Amino acid sequence: MKLKIAVLAGDGIGPEVIDQAVKVSDAIAKKFNHEITWRPALTGAAAIDAVGEPYPDETHEICASSDAVLFGAIGHPRYDNDPLAKVRPEQGLLKMRKKLGLFANVRPTFTFPSLLDKSPLKRERIEGTDLVFLRELTGGIYFGEKGRRDGGETAFDNCVYTRAEVIRLAKKGFELAMTRSKKLCCVDKANVLETSRLWRETVQAMEKEYPEVTVSYEFVDAVAMRLVQWPNSYDVLITENLFGDILTDEASVISGSMGLMPSASLGSNIGLFEPIHGSYPQATGLNIANPMATILSAAMMFENFGLMDEGKAIRDAVNDALNKGIVTEDIADGAKAYGTKEVGNWIAENI
Ligand code: IPM
Ligand code: MN
Repeated sequence: MKLKIAVLAGDGIGPEVIDQAVKVSDAIAKKFNHEITWRPALTGAAAIDAVGEPYPDETHEICASSDAVLFGAIGHPRYDNDPLAKVRPEQGLLKMRKKLGLFANVRPTFTFPSLLDKSPLKRERIEGTDLVFLRELTGGIYFGEKGRRDGGETAFDNCVYTRAEVIRLAKKGFELAMTRSKKLCCVDKANVLETSRLWRETVQAMEKEYPEVTVSYEFVDAVAMRLVQWPNSYDVLITENLFGDILTDEASVISGSMGLMPSASLGSNIGLFEPIHGSYPQATGLNIANPMATILSAAMMFENFGLMDEGKAIRDAVNDALNKGIVTEDIADGAKAYGTKEVGNWIAENI
């Protein structure tokens, strides 16, 4: 297969972890006879520094004319404590999601047998956990009207959803559930929020199209609790943008490190693949960041092209590295820690 992949390394540890995912993907291309053209482009604080904009038009054109986007991380501490900053790296990410039509964010949480004791939760609680969040990504409070009134003394952020937005996300949830254990949980706050009531009523109406899927409806606060009590009781979960943002951070540490979990953002025919973690500015340039989440995001990218053996080859190599202790300091737990590059090299060589 000939693939054109846009590479948006971004900020902080982004470039370091992306380098490893590119290296591993090149090893896959060599083994399975694919031809990958990498198309680097600027985003985040790096793009603001270069051209004054976190998602420049030129970057959008490169993404929109590629088959997929491999994304590192964005964010820089110099913007975090400056509420008045007009341009922020995160705006680039939101603009990109909207312009590329990436309305479905797929965020899996699974455990690795060799890491069961590294989780903040007890082994018996997490054994067998294998769940996937489908987070709505281009609507809700993130994109509703926001502003100030009363001379700046009052602030508001509107949460808006249309039935069509709920249907297209829920459809992906039902379809995913059909390929797994046929269990779907709709996470909302329908006891309080009107948008949640629209979600619930819409999903309820869709149930008859998927008679084999068992759907449960749970409030977001209860899910936050059950996720740390019995994460292995969930399979596919669908939810709106902000709830999904919060719950997927919570879920991402169950595996033992946030540095392990990949994600995909889908919608149009161009998928975007990125680690769940952020730009981890304190670790920038130190060669200590865990590249596995980004490498596993590349696995999701191949699988999204229907290249399942390629995805599996990456997952197997990552598992081998974990079993052999070829890991970065976040999971080394006192044992020898390897550098970002060394872990990437090992995985690429063992494809
Ligand atoms: C994420 C991030 C982003 C979000 C930020 C950086 C805008 O936290 O991808 O989850 O809130 O969506
Ligand atoms: Mn987040």
